[in-house]
Amino acid sequence: MSQHETPLFTGLKEHAKRNPYQFHIPGHKKGHGMDPEFRDFIGENALSIDLINIAPLDDLHQPKGMIKQAQDLAAQAFGADHTFFSVQGTSGAIMTMIMSVVSPGDKIIVPRNVHKSIMTAIVFSGATPVFIHPEIDRELGISHGITPQSVKKALEQNPDAKGVLVINPTYYGVSANLSEIVEIAHSYRVPVLVDEAHGVLIHFHDKMPLSAMQAGADMAATSVHKLGGSLTGSSILNIKEGLVSAKRVQTILSMLTTTSTSYILLASLDTARKRLATEGYSIIEKTIKLANGAREKINQIPRLYCVGDEILGKEATYDLDPTKILISVKELGITGYDAEVWLREKHNIEVELSDLYNILCLITTADHEKNIMVLVNALEEMSQHFENTDERAAQALPVHVPDIPVLALSPRDAFYADTESVPFEESAGRIIAEFIMVYPPGIPIFIPGEIITQDNLDYIKETIEAGLPVQGPEDPELGKLKVIKEHIAIR
Ligand SMILES: Cc1ncc(COP(=O)(O)O)c(C=O)c1O
Repeated sequence: MSQHETPLFTGLKEHAKRNPYQFHIPGHKKGHGMDPEFRDFIGENALSIDLINIAPLDDLHQPKGMIKQAQDLAAQAFGADHTFFSVQGTSGAIMTMIMSVVSPGDKIIVPRNVHKSIMTAIVFSGATPVFIHPEIDRELGISHGITPQSVKKALEQNPDAKGVLVINPTYYGVSANLSEIVEIAHSYRVPVLVDEAHGVLIHFHDKMPLSAMQAGADMAATSVHKLGGSLTGSSILNIKEGLVSAKRVQTILSMLTTTSTSYILLASLDTARKRLATEGYSIIEKTIKLANGAREKINQIPRLYCVGDEILGKEATYDLDPTKILISVKELGITGYDAEVWLREKHNIEVELSDLYNILCLITTADHEKNIMVLVNALEEMSQHFENTDERAAQALPVHVPDIPVLALSPRDAFYADTESVPFEESAGRIIAEFIMVYPPGIPIFIPGEIITQDNLDYIKETIEAGLPVQGPEDPELGKLKVIKEHIAIR
């Protein structure tokens, strides 16, 4: 089959065209049995392929027909031995990836700044995380990835680990030398699992960091929906056989996946793969040019700094995806969140994320010169506005990055332990039993089992005061935190 074909999407369209009498779910039957306002808004084409795994349409849980063909084409396009489609986002693919290599009690080497889906898989599987501290960029106030040297050290101390997990590239587009990490891990016969949530495009252009499959990694959870043009919630899991088993992956994926798989999401993966495989290079080339043009213009704006190749050359900053426009606003004396809100209110611009010091804007294959200029002009005005009107502008915001807390109990033991709720202000020194994270990007400040420190409590307060979304605890107001119950000795 050629990469120009879309067996799944085409098969679905042909099925819909035959217009069969439907006596199966979904009960809306091409939209006839649903609220008319929603039906008219979504449109009949989409509803005609909102189908489920009836025999002619194959089954994601045991693909043999059009889904298998679509997955095989994706594997070819992504340089994998096998590709599995996920309708539960990259989170679903990540949980599958981890749970197919670890059993209860096994060690897995992971950076501490991982997405919550990784920690969720660790809690569910009962694996023990061996954390590697990511490299911290104190200028920008962000974490990068882990370095080959730190992986080497972790493996020397834990040669029995069942996997090494790497984020490549990070949310901000930075990657370490993944080939070297793979070489080190493979010398211990330990598989490398890659969180490639922000790297679907990198496989298709040589001015991008190496993709997981190009670097020889064993598995990669790759968000096609984030940047590759498929619908939200669709993603893929690529694997290279050898140290991991495709059959095991299929079993775990099936255990974690709904039996009512959305064919709209699956079809969108099929067509996104076709576009990336057949036109990827040229559209990514154009995107990189647009992003580099934007970077240059933004760097001419007083007190704004848009990160570029100058940050490369260190172990954790080996390569950069230039389409990620990370802008440090701290010299304006405002937080990233202030900038996000200002851009929303004054210019109807929505950024990808903000943190205490930065905003992140994504230039994608959908962009063109005109909307890049909307962003650049708005940033120019923002720089002038805060210079002229805001007294904070006189002082750049100092960067504060909290320490990583110490893990006292395995995340699973802590998550399932006897717990009690204590006031936030009195929780320092206790072991936390829940996750606390800022979303986006969904990186935990605390994971279950860590010892709460005052420094981290202060950081949470600072984050909330800046307006950033802190999520995770059972008490969303953060008045109380769930901690492990302390059993006092009986006298
Ligand atoms: C680094 C990273 N990994 C994994 C995920 C999970 O992806 P999804 O939202 O597709 O489940 C995200 C989502 O933002 C992410 O930023």
